[in-house]
Amino acid sequence: MVRVLFVCLGNICRSPTAEGVFRKLVTEQGMELTIDVDSAGTHAYHIGDPPDQRAVQAAAYREIDLTHLRGRQATLKDFDYFDYLLAMDEENRRHLLSIAPSDLAHKVRLFMEFSNRFNEREVPDPYWGGASGFDRVLDMIEDAARGLLEDIRARHEI
Ligand code: 4NP
Repeated sequence: MVRVLFVCLGNICRSPTAEGVFRKLVTEQGMELTIDVDSAGTHAYHIGDPPDQRAVQAAAYREIDLTHLRGRQATLKDFDYFDYLLAMDEENRRHLLSIAPSDLAHKVRLFMEFSNRFNEREVPDPYWGGASGFDRVLDMIEDAARGLLEDIRARHEI
């Protein structure tokens, strides 16, 4: 089993979107028993909350259902359980590194490292902007998710 955790600040916009996009891709490839997918926030503001309506709507246009997801905060246990803790931006990455046990810090990466089409290293926070921000976030996440799946399949020979 390869375990992937997507991490943003609130766990209501970017990381649940990444979870939904990546899970769909994994399922399409018939790998849902091989790759475990989850998401979490660095902060506690939205524990128990469903994803932001704008994220739900933007994903639904691409036939991705986020409605069942609920916000949670990343914990120390996540560093043991997951193989990849993929931060949406540098701030999230720094936060994860500040709490990571030093022998597990190598699991923390920037998600956009896996993108082929985008040069940006960060998925921008769409929370304070309009609906178009969520569409661009989805474009970026879909591309990085494809790159991530290729990387996992090659690295783990699955
Ligand atoms: P996310 O977006 O990190 O992509 O889920 C945000 C959600 C909520 C807040 C900030 C960013 N907030 O400040 O409540």
